[in-house]
Amino acid sequence: MAILSLVLLLLAHIITTSFSLQIHFYSKSCPRAEIIVKQVVQKHFQQDPSVPSGLLRLQFHDCFVRGCDGSILLDSDGHNVAEKNAPPNLTLRTFDVIDDIKAELEKECRGVVSCADILALATRDGVKLSGGAAYALPTGRRDGVVSNVADVHLPSPMISVAEAVAAFLSINLDIVDLTTLLGAHSIGLCHCGFFMDRLYNHKGTGLPDPSIDPTLLTTLLKKCPPHAVTLQNITQDSSVFMNQATTTPFLLDGSSFYHGVLNGMAVLQLDQELAFTDLTNKLAARFVNSPKLFRKQFSKSMVKLGNVGVLTGEEGEVRLNCRRVNSATSSNSSTKV
Ligand code: HEM
Repeated sequence: MAILSLVLLLLAHIITTSFSLQIHFYSKSCPRAEIIVKQVVQKHFQQDPSVPSGLLRLQFHDCFVRGCDGSILLDSDGHNVAEKNAPPNLTLRTFDVIDDIKAELEKECRGVVSCADILALATRDGVKLSGGAAYALPTGRRDGVVSNVADVHLPSPMISVAEAVAAFLSINLDIVDLTTLLGAHSIGLCHCGFFMDRLYNHKGTGLPDPSIDPTLLTTLLKKCPPHAVTLQNITQDSSVFMNQATTTPFLLDGSSFYHGVLNGMAVLQLDQELAFTDLTNKLAARFVNSPKLFRKQFSKSMVKLGNVGVLTGEEGEVRLNCRRVNSATSSNSSTKV
């Protein structure tokens, strides 16, 4: 009996090891894959320095819902409303970057590199381009075939740190990952609708959030007048730089972001709350003083995020078009013929 259990354990180990993610998974099947991803991201970045922030958010929203399976990239069709049409996803960007990379990779090696890996690699390259560390990223993810608006339960920016920790624990990320990855908010844009309550009606008081720095409050009130904001139509909403404590809003810079957090300069309520919770404020203070520590931990937490709920081996598929599952792609092309 003991021997049988040992054999079963060994078998389970072999199966999980052989189907886990690996560094340079495409080194034989598509040797230039990572180079191509990098080149296309670089090209987009040169035209628009906000591309890395778009990618980072896209990666988080992919991984949080059904794991990092590229389900966020699928379009809705006649029968199904996809994740990307859920309200928190309406301001996601950089789908075009992923499409361009996929088109280049399909020319190089058809049907080999998954959309989930493309997103993870492009995000990794975006992090480097915006000043983060170059981290080795395990690949070998497969693409999911389901994307449904009903599965989208992303954490709101109005929740407490405790609630955000619980949300992150549900995907096996801890409080250190949460505090560190919120440092991604040192770059990019934030639509006014996501923080209007803080400006005009904090916790139902009819007043602004007293924790906002007064000078920042004046700036934000001007940029986000009440009539200009409609959460229903958020894509047309005004936006501000997420990091209001810097003159370099596209530089992934933990120091300025956490310094801002500790001094009432955060735009989102959840980011501001990091200052008022014991462990998170200590970590924020450490990141202010050690950019190196932030960069190192950010890379680690990104790799962890990229491992969430991945499909490997024979699971899922490798989509030919990141916006459609293969069965839809082949039935579309057969209709065209
Ligand atoms: C509880 C967790 C989180 C909440 C509540 C949250 C919330 C938000 C909100 C409301 C925005 C503004 C979106 C817009 O106006 O279009 C935003 C932007 C952003 N988020 Fe998060 N976020 C969280 C975690 C993360 C994580 C883990 C990452 C990266 C790994 C991330 C990266 C970003 C980036 C880079 C932007 C700027 C997007 C852009 O420039 O288009 N966020 N986030």
